[in-house]
Amino acid sequence: MLTQAIRGVKDILPSDVRKWQRIEVMARELFSAYGFSEIRIPIIEHTVLFARSIGATSDIVEKEMYSFTDQGGDQITLRPEGTASVVRSYVEHKLYADNRVNKLYYVGPMFRRERPQAGRLRQFHQIGVEALGAAEPGIDVDVLTVLDEFFKRLGINGVELQINSLGCRDCRSRYKEALIGFLNTQRDHLCEDCLRRIDINPLRALDCKSEGCKRAAADAPVMADYLDEGCRTHFEKVKEGLDDLGIKYTVKPRMVRGLDYYTRTTFEMVATDKKGAQNAVAAGGRYDGLVEEVGGPQTPGIGFAIGIERIIMMLPDAWKTGPETPALFIAALGVKARRLVQKMADDLRKIGIRTERDYAEAGLKAQMKKADKLGAKYVLIIGEDEIARGVSVLRDMRTKEQAELPLLHITESIRKIIQEAGGY
Ligand code: HAM
Repeated sequence: MLTQAIRGVKDILPSDVRKWQRIEVMARELFSAYGFSEIRIPIIEHTVLFARSIGATSDIVEKEMYSFTDQGGDQITLRPEGTASVVRSYVEHKLYADNRVNKLYYVGPMFRRERPQAGRLRQFHQIGVEALGAAEPGIDVDVLTVLDEFFKRLGINGVELQINSLGCRDCRSRYKEALIGFLNTQRDHLCEDCLRRIDINPLRALDCKSEGCKRAAADAPVMADYLDEGCRTHFEKVKEGLDDLGIKYTVKPRMVRGLDYYTRTTFEMVATDKKGAQNAVAAGGRYDGLVEEVGGPQTPGIGFAIGIERIIMMLPDAWKTGPETPALFIAALGVKARRLVQKMADDLRKIGIRTERDYAEAGLKAQMKKADKLGAKYVLIIGEDEIARGVSVLRDMRTKEQAELPLLHITESIRKIIQEAGGY
């Protein structure tokens, strides 16, 4: 217990963390270019926020939330997703008062008590965007473009953007009626969960993983046939916009989402070279009724979230990284040299050169071995004899070439050499 993390919760070790940092830096640059600003939302919220927004009969709320009563008797939940919190924050701080459209993004951990497997964790991480205040199809196109561009920049090719429209509340209630009628004819095939939810949340049956429900869903009526004029036109314009930008997509008329707040445009970025339940690497959609549901003014919204663990599994080889390697290792021999090296290492680090040294009083051989193990590009050797002569020896660990460098202006000389060799 003491030496084992909780099931489905993972450490991100130094050997992997640079990938995470690069993905985050790239996401921030991209989102900022598209006019999104970062929002930092809390990890805990009142349970009722998620129950209300994601839907009391959704799998997340019914089975997967980490909820507890705190010492003050409040019902608290570790956020299973970010949209509800962003909307709560938007309403609480009246962000709509300053700008008609608010474009926000967030990065951070989410918690769902799912059955852990590859790419499915109990603490996982999302990068998400939410655009609040615009009902026009142009914003759907922008949001989908950012998502598409994100995957292009990562160099991930094996993905497909799948889209659908779930219509507005009116279309949905007509569709639900038809779907309930159909599902009632299929009762013998449906799983217990879907039977129980048939009248309250029939759409879940279309997304259920049990074999009987899957077979029944294949013949179910499709939402597209129940869209009213407004929703149909909206969807057409979104597709037209994507075509204009050359963004490839596939329309999936049977796509539904596990969260209840969606209206109109919904989408998933799906890994095409991998079969199985974990193939959605990002997902999102419109939620035109959510702000009102949470207690704010009627405000449209659209967004998506990308699962970082899932994209890390798909990164091309060029992304392979290890922990930070030092540009320079300083090997010191003797008391005098060690004192000098302490200052020298500090000067080099202050100008941004990743510098390591040995803290034990080891001999030259042991220090060289350590430099090699750390992956240092250069080793600077300084002994009593070198100090006496006012020099040091710089060894290029790749070419094994060695050259003497005067101790005078050593920081500057090393900076130049390392810069010319391609950086720190
Ligand atoms: P979601 O489909 O529940 O949507 O999750 C989005 C993405 O988070 C998934 O496609 C997947 O990559 C990742 N993900 C979800 N659960 C797990 C898990 N247990 N382990 C690893 N990765 C996971 C949402 O969360 C919505 N809030 C998205 C959204 C934003 N819709 C509108 N705005």
